[in-house]
Amino acid sequence: MKIAVACDHAGLQLKNVLIEEMQKAGHEVKDFGTYTEESCDYPDYVIPTAKAVANGEFDRGVVVCGTGLGVSMTANKVHGIRCAVCHDTFSAKATRQHNDANMLAMGQRVVGTGVALEVLKAFLETDYEGGRHQRRIDKMMALEKQQ
Ligand code: RB5
Repeated sequence: MKIAVACDHAGLQLKNVLIEEMQKAGHEVKDFGTYTEESCDYPDYVIPTAKAVANGEFDRGVVVCGTGLGVSMTANKVHGIRCAVCHDTFSAKATRQHNDANMLAMGQRVVGTGVALEVLKAFLETDYEGGRHQRRIDKMMALEKQQ
């Protein structure tokens, strides 16, 4: 899969671990930054990442900040993005099966590396179930056209 990733200063270490894992698993990863622990503003990195996922350049996106919250809120402002904050494997699996989430957000200050790697694996390896869920996603995404 082609995966776009980004973080802020508070998510750098976890992002780097996730990138290494995705590359090991054979995924093509593009890192949109940030690349240092110098304080920065997550929208500067998340917006280009989310746009690249929304326009089909990448299959999925993975974003990390201190909590996972700011990066997910930002990504979800981009039309076409369904970004889920997940710190457990049940949620990561469910958001793929039911919500067809195309971006995952995690918080480096919230979750340990071991759990984060399992969450990532569940997110990348779980398929969308379609069926009744499509109707709900269609209603959700229709908002983007109305507003
Ligand atoms: C940075 O201090 C922190 O606010 C940021 O990483 C993120 O957690 C915001 O939602």
